[in-house]
Amino acid sequence: MNSTSPLRFIDTSARGITDTMGRPLRDLRVSVTDRCNFRCVYCMPKEVFGRDHPFLEREQLLTFEEIERLARLFQALGVKKIRVTGGEPLLRRNLERLIARLASIPDLDLTLTTNGALLAQQAAALKAAGLRRITVSLDSVDNAVFQAMNDVGFPVEVVLEGIEAAAAAGLKPVKINMVVKRGVNDASILPIARHFRGTAHIVRFIEYMDVGQTNGWRLDDVVPAVEVLKRIHTEMPLEPVEADYRGEVAQRWRYQDGEGEIGVITSVTQAFCCDCTRARLSAEGKLYTCLFAADGHDLRALLRGGASDAEISEAVGRIWRGRGDRYSEIRSAETVGLDKIEMSYIGG
Ligand code: GTP
Ligand code: 5AD
Ligand code: SF4
Ligand code: SF4
Repeated sequence: MNSTSPLRFIDTSARGITDTMGRPLRDLRVSVTDRCNFRCVYCMPKEVFGRDHPFLEREQLLTFEEIERLARLFQALGVKKIRVTGGEPLLRRNLERLIARLASIPDLDLTLTTNGALLAQQAAALKAAGLRRITVSLDSVDNAVFQAMNDVGFPVEVVLEGIEAAAAAGLKPVKINMVVKRGVNDASILPIARHFRGTAHIVRFIEYMDVGQTNGWRLDDVVPAVEVLKRIHTEMPLEPVEADYRGEVAQRWRYQDGEGEIGVITSVTQAFCCDCTRARLSAEGKLYTCLFAADGHDLRALLRGGASDAEISEAVGRIWRGRGDRYSEIRSAETVGLDKIEMSYIGG
């Protein structure tokens, strides 16, 4: 798939606003908490996110009412998909009430990314509130590897139960995100592919990225997507599938024998910035125009300072029109020293 051609992107019929590279605003990722019950080694290393780590206080978080108000304004500016993220979003109390509010906004694909730990308990309520589908992060189906990666000893069976509960509740398709780190869980690529082959769940293999300041990323830790595909194809032959929509992050592949589909997310080896239509809202209401941005724009100050809907929309429009981010396209092997936000703060 040629996801790097800027020509894929020009669409003059598109409603809404475009940035300096002609990219429309289509997706909004809303983080509802910066806390997590896991300490994945590549995301929230224990040494950094320990007992005295200063997580956001309750009053700093956007309320559900504030999030809904912003979501409606973003929808009017052209957003078609809202993804609720964290930290771990299922830790936010009464999350289904937020889902119900967001589900009342017309013409939106509404989804959520979770680590799955609390999914079995919450899947039915989330579905009833109007959630359409779900993505579960799962780095291995091998319990020892999984426990070492989440670093809190959380058992893989519970996440697998959560995945099945989500599918049984009608949250479909379930997508499974596996971040691949060389020497840590790359031996789990084939087992996870085999495990979910023939279920309707879609596993996506994500290249380990240099997000944040704390994960000690090295280029050598990345397993390029071509290598992932080659390993799977050798045992279970694959063929490419056309992208679902413009700006889709994952490149899609299906098993030639009809047993399902997988995806690869090539943020390191084949950047997809030229198609990037995503804005990110942190739990405290800062708007980020790139996953690798150093700072965000404080929308909470506008909300709590009494700004009108028109003023907030105007501010968002101005920010988006001025956007020129393309971090992954210009990334070098040396990324330390840049002041980047943490994945757990912005939710991927
Ligand atoms: P759907 O295809 O609608 O399910 O959405 P998606 O692929 O955007 O979903 P998801 O949130 O699961 O994204 C998968 C992963 O891709 C994220 O967790 C990130 O690791 C990575 N990713 C998503 N968006 C970006 C982006 O804008 N830039 C970079 N570099 N990586 C991204
Ligand atoms: N590189 C790639 N993906 C990451 N995620 C967290 N940290 C990284 C990283 N350094 C993924 C999680 C989850 C999503 C929110 O982001 O596994 O699927
Ligand atoms: Fe792991 Fe996701 Fe929690 Fe980060 S936010 S520690 S990736 S479960
Ligand atoms: Fe979008 Fe920034 Fe990721 Fe590029 S690096 S795809 S601009 S979020």
